[in-house]
Amino acid sequence: MQVLAFVNQKGGCGKTTSAVHLAGAFARLGLRTLLVDLDPQAHATLSLSCAPAEGEPTVLDVLTGGARADAALFAAPGGVWLLPATIELARFEEESERVLQPERRLAAALEELAGIFDVVLLDCPPRVDGVLAKNALRACDTAVLVVETGAFALQGALKALVILEELERELEHPFDTRVLATLFDRRVAFMREVLVALELRFGAGLFDTVLRQHEALREAAALGAPIQVVDPASDACLDFDALAAELLSKRLVARASNTAVTSRV
Ligand SMILES: Nc1ncnc2c1ncn2[C@@H]1O[C@H](COP(=O)(O)OP(=O)(O)OP(=O)(O)O)[C@@H](O)[C@H]1O
Ligand SMILES: [Mg+2]
Repeated sequence: MQVLAFVNQKGGCGKTTSAVHLAGAFARLGLRTLLVDLDPQAHATLSLSCAPAEGEPTVLDVLTGGARADAALFAAPGGVWLLPATIELARFEEESERVLQPERRLAAALEELAGIFDVVLLDCPPRVDGVLAKNALRACDTAVLVVETGAFALQGALKALVILEELERELEHPFDTRVLATLFDRRVAFMREVLVALELRFGAGLFDTVLRQHEALREAAALGAPIQVVDPASDACLDFDALAAELLSKRLVARASNTAVTSRV
């Protein structure tokens, strides 16, 4: 089971969009795919039209030990499994002060799911040094640093990399860091320059696949399903298929499990 954390301290750079539709691409390929919403904004949960009812377990209960991970799984559209969040997840930051090694909670919970899923995608909040992102980094094999091909992209990415390296040491958990360029528009000369700068700086650390801007992705978020469900023949789907294929070919994700996924749903 390979775990990918979608991170950046910058807000609105495409973390959730990248994680949700890449999850859709893996699920379409037949991989057992879990998306974990680690953001109190709950945008990944909303993007998959899941809204846990009052009293239903969420990722907060899993982190605080109130529920097992497999009891909190939702079957989301497109064959993706979701560990949902609500705004209540914001409480974990405060509650974690009373817990020993709170940043290890997610890793421990995911261990219970090993063998059930092939790939786990973690959608992080726009903050890398909070306890939620630390849980993601402590649990992940690969940190996917999502970089919008806009102003200050390189500077922002370099700052984020420094923080990620510090956290790798602090958490005593080595992970691979890769850069994913997104929200790209080839018609904009400035964006082409940003992409060249990212290629020069990160080399093989930058994914060959660049996620382009697609209006269909904004619509998919509103419709509450992965793009593979909303518009399976779209160009946006091609981007996520290419990224999934690249992750598989680079062995950052592997097809491994034969066990059926079960849940209370
Ligand atoms: N490739 C894309 N094409 C078109 N729109 C996109 C793309 N990626 C993201 N967006 C849009 O940009 C906005 C921000 O994207 P998203 O929510 O994925 O960012 P985020 O990094 O998760 O934000 P936050 O830091 O608040 O969690 C959303 O409105 C989303 O629909
Ligand atoms: Mg987000």
